[in-house]
Amino acid sequence: MSKYRIAWMPGDGIGIDVMEAARIVLDALNLDAEYIPADIGWYFWCTEGDPLPQRTIDILKTCSCGLFGAITSKPKDEAALELVPELQEAGLSYRSPIVQLRQLFDLYTNLRPCKAYPGNPLNYRDDIDLVVFRENTEGLYSGVEFYPLDDDLRATLIQFNSRMSRFNEAPGDEIAVSLRVITKSGARRIVRQAFEYARKHGYPTVTLVEKPNVLRETSGLMTREARAVAGNYPEIELWETNIDAQMMWLLKNPHDYGVLVTSNMFGDIVSDLSAQLVGGLGFASSGNIGDDFAIFEPTHGSAPKYAGQHKVNPTAMLLAVKLMLNWLGEAEMAQTLETAIAGMIAEGKVRTYDMGGNSSTLDVAHAIVAKFK
Ligand code: IPM
Ligand code: MG
Repeated sequence: MSKYRIAWMPGDGIGIDVMEAARIVLDALNLDAEYIPADIGWYFWCTEGDPLPQRTIDILKTCSCGLFGAITSKPKDEAALELVPELQEAGLSYRSPIVQLRQLFDLYTNLRPCKAYPGNPLNYRDDIDLVVFRENTEGLYSGVEFYPLDDDLRATLIQFNSRMSRFNEAPGDEIAVSLRVITKSGARRIVRQAFEYARKHGYPTVTLVEKPNVLRETSGLMTREARAVAGNYPEIELWETNIDAQMMWLLKNPHDYGVLVTSNMFGDIVSDLSAQLVGGLGFASSGNIGDDFAIFEPTHGSAPKYAGQHKVNPTAMLLAVKLMLNWLGEAEMAQTLETAIAGMIAEGKVRTYDMGGNSSTLDVAHAIVAKFK
């Protein structure tokens, strides 16, 4: 029996291409693992009405962790139109399977390192080393949304907060509500993860990115919890910034920041900006991490127009493999992989189109493997 069982979820589009690259690298590293294919994505939505079939959840429950490629997500109405005819009238509604997985397995930390590797011509600056901690299970992506808005619910909202009466004129089908739910324990645990990481890796600051001057309750709660947690880490300074200003600061002085921590939607935004600072989504990896399970993925989407062409940069996926190896406790392998990735970037011989070259996805994987020896 292998030491690890890894759920293998390429998903859609270029997810399949970059997972092929991941496999080349994992096989060359000789990780003692069995890879269990699991169905996820657009095809299963269209044909079965469920992008995350129960059989996939069952497989995940038997695995050490999961590796995930990418997913195609479309807004509700567009998604409904692509269902097979038999399912068109079934009243199904699409929900992103990766968001579902994060909640289902309580993978509350979304760890998104964005590091400028020397020699990457796409670096915004060469001295950037950011790590985004995005809360991954609550906030505006909790999935608690209402449309049309029920009259009783509206009356209750008005009863508890008179500001809601400003929206009393809109008919139920002309108003939609999404809830931003933040719990004390949810806030506390993500901030704690950020501080633990900062301590372990020697970052002098943790920046809380919220908006407590407007989102007084949810961002306010997050800020209070962050201050409480920060008290346990006297050697690390807590900086508090607002999301809008932080976007400006990240462009102006990205080298001033290290660990950033924020709620779900702000984290989604901050992590794409941070990715662009170090070469774009082709270099940005994610770990969705809970207390005893995790799923690793590149931050990018499924880029349907490049699907199957082996054209895209697999570095983000391979950095996600590196995160997985670290999480599994295979620190030496993780280091070997990261050193090889950095070496390949520094050398500049093998470059995909985003870096101005014409190497393929798999060329990159092979060039990295060649550096293991
Ligand atoms: C990400 C992605 C997802 C998200 C999408 C695909 C649902 O943008 O991982 O950042 O919003 O979390
Ligand atoms: Mg995103």
